[in-house]
Amino acid sequence: MTVVGVIGGGQLARMMIPAAINLGLELRVFAESEVSSAKLGASHVGDFTNLEELVAFADGVDVITFDHEHVPLDHLRHLGEAGTAVFPPPKALALTQDKIVMRQALAAAGLPQPQWASASQDNLDDALDEVRGLPCIAKLPVGGYDGRGVRVVETVEDLADWLALGPVLLEERVAFVRELAQLSARRPSGEFVAWLPVETRQEGGVCAQVLSPAPGLSDLLRAEAETIATIIAGTFDVVGVLAVELFETRDGRLLVNELAMRPHNSGHVLTEQSVTSQFEQHLRAVADYPLGSTALRTPHGVMINVFSDASMDRFRAVAEQAPDIKFHSYQKAARPGRKAGHLVLTGSNPDDIFARAMTAWELLEPRKADS
Ligand SMILES: Nc1ncnc2c1ncn2[C@@H]1O[C@H](COP(=O)(O)OP(=O)(O)O)[C@@H](O)[C@H]1O
Ligand SMILES: [Mg+2]
Repeated sequence: MTVVGVIGGGQLARMMIPAAINLGLELRVFAESEVSSAKLGASHVGDFTNLEELVAFADGVDVITFDHEHVPLDHLRHLGEAGTAVFPPPKALALTQDKIVMRQALAAAGLPQPQWASASQDNLDDALDEVRGLPCIAKLPVGGYDGRGVRVVETVEDLADWLALGPVLLEERVAFVRELAQLSARRPSGEFVAWLPVETRQEGGVCAQVLSPAPGLSDLLRAEAETIATIIAGTFDVVGVLAVELFETRDGRLLVNELAMRPHNSGHVLTEQSVTSQFEQHLRAVADYPLGSTALRTPHGVMINVFSDASMDRFRAVAEQAPDIKFHSYQKAARPGRKAGHLVLTGSNPDDIFARAMTAWELLEPRKADS
């Protein structure tokens, strides 16, 4: 039996567990704490920056993959040299660990992206020129997520504290019409599949809702999104699920915002909507199985993130009204801005499922819905 080791015990590892059971893979999770979202699959609780712990975890594991992108690359190279497959490989993962490295790599590959610059105290004026001046967007290159580590910069004073820490990624502020995500997957042999792009809606830098497939997307942009993902996956030897976050601009272009090389929040709707979920696909890819069909079972899907403590008690009321709504609890303690679960509704009428999904969300998250 192939043994897959997942580093990180968050909800993405949690949702890999049922997919691994169905595929007949053994999944072992390296969790950060006893109360992690993926504790059901945890075989090790510890510190993923500690090489000795990683080496011990890798013993008996055929392939290492990830719930997050924060494992030191040198440690992963060490595991690879010692004979454990690491997918995505460190070369690819490097692009998801540092947004400046990602911008440089995408530029070298000739891919479309916002105007950007790596800013320091010494080159600030030139960097601001590169991104067409203020206001612009500033990003901490390392460690940001869910909008933490992203700021709108109105005046240079807004940057002072971050510049004191090291280089800051500056980007032009893109006046996009909407944000999209292209989910895809690649196997070690190079076999590549893509789902249809989805539309993601952010609130305060955090994904709030996903519509699948992206409503009204032209065939041209659909093909362009897939081409961008194919190039990234092939150029950087990505293995596993690749999510490409994209801006659709007013003049009908796509710009790459950022990358994830693991299942991604924008792909949760596929669990109900697609023949193959992103979790199954990720495991198939890293275990080198033939990839599954990305066809959609239902023409439309909606995913809404739930941030408050989405207890089963509140879900009872939702389930009574709408037996076709699917709720996924991450079993995480609620904290402001932290995703605690999501709900999905699929069907043939996009307006109907969106309205019904919102009604359900208001029941699950009454305080947020009122605010
Ligand atoms: N260059 C930009 N122009 C306009 N909005 C942006 C830009 N970069 C990021 N954003 C907004 O901020 C959100 C979070 O940025 P992102 O780089 O994806 O960081 P995170 O790692 O937190 O997801 C994006 O989804 C988008 O809504
Ligand atoms: Mg993002």
